[in-house]
Amino acid sequence: MRQLQLIAHGEPSDVIELNTVSEPALGQEDVLISMEAAPMNPSDFLFVRGMYGVRPAFPSSVGAEGVGRVAKIGSKVDAALRGKRVLILPTYEQGTWADEVVVPVRNLVPMSDEADPLQLSMIGINPATAYLLLNRYVSLMPGDWIGQTAANAAMGQYIVALAKLAGVKTLNVVRRDEAAEQVRQWGGDRVVLQGENLHKDIEEALDGKKLSLVLDMVGGTPVGELAKSLKPGGSIVVYALQSGQFPAVSPGDLIYRGLSLHGFWLINWIRNAPRIEIKEVYQKLGDLVADGSLSAAVEQVYPLDQFKEAFKQSLQSNRSGKILFKFGATDETDRG
Ligand SMILES: NC(=O)c1ccc[n+]([C@@H]2O[C@H](COP(=O)([O-])OP(=O)(O)OC[C@H]3O[C@@H](n4cnc5c(N)ncnc54)[C@H](OP(=O)(O)O)[C@@H]3O)[C@@H](O)[C@H]2O)c1
Repeated sequence: MRQLQLIAHGEPSDVIELNTVSEPALGQEDVLISMEAAPMNPSDFLFVRGMYGVRPAFPSSVGAEGVGRVAKIGSKVDAALRGKRVLILPTYEQGTWADEVVVPVRNLVPMSDEADPLQLSMIGINPATAYLLLNRYVSLMPGDWIGQTAANAAMGQYIVALAKLAGVKTLNVVRRDEAAEQVRQWGGDRVVLQGENLHKDIEEALDGKKLSLVLDMVGGTPVGELAKSLKPGGSIVVYALQSGQFPAVSPGDLIYRGLSLHGFWLINWIRNAPRIEIKEVYQKLGDLVADGSLSAAVEQVYPLDQFKEAFKQSLQSNRSGKILFKFGATDETDRG
């Protein structure tokens, strides 16, 4: 089977090779998955560069999430799983950028045969994170407002969709005009551009209303400007640092207005939550993908052997959507 392998930390195209490896022996509770689709996420590239919270031994398989079909099962695995489409949980125990992957059965969640495998392949990381960010920190009621940075990201699209389903309104910050238009088309209630007058623009967009929750993946000043529009006692959750700058939230806002600042990492939830809760969340998200309520924009798909082109495109700013590997009979580059 062919597998992308990480041989050292560094720039993705320099340190990842496509190798043919022999099929590993299946343990009693393992399953061999024939992959259908696997996305590239910013966290995959942090992992490759040695900047992520999980460090591999080399050579390492790579790729955190994806979907495929069960091709072979270990002796203690339920035979009903054979041929089923399954989501591979992003536990970092297996790499999904490969034609076939051996996965312990506890790391799989069955998914619908009818839903789009490209969309299903992306629910392991971003939709689960969006769902938990919206549900863990404050009790949001219909009509409440939340604010978020980099709203045109895949994460932003999921947050807008899940907030909408709950009747919650979104104030979205982006850094480009085209991105603002995209977020409006997804149903973002208000969209403002990052810039010198950000606080004034946020206040005008909110027209007297206050935010209950701020979700930040950028760092630097935008999150601090959003925090100024939080209700007293509101929460800020930082889940990434795309600008590389620390979140500039005023200590005065934290102290005098009782705001709370939290950090979130999905892997802690996957490691610590009961498997039954984890599977319930993914089944709910899988159902939302299947009925069309939840999706992320796809810019392009690639076959595995074009990984260098795929990485280059995935690492570019100003994309209109995600870049994914697509496997199998339709293993060819196309627009998603
Ligand atoms: N903590 C967790 O558990 C967790 C879970 C899921 C995701 N994440 C993180 O969430 C982030 C988004 O993931 P994704 O898959 O949604 O990414 P994505 O679709 O690739 O989008 C990346 C976003 O970051 C924006 N961006 C990049 N550099 C920026 C900068 N310097 N200033 C402002 N915006 C900037 C991009 O804006 P442009 O389009 O304008 O370039 C784009 O909106 C990643 O950092 C990912 O690792 C964390």
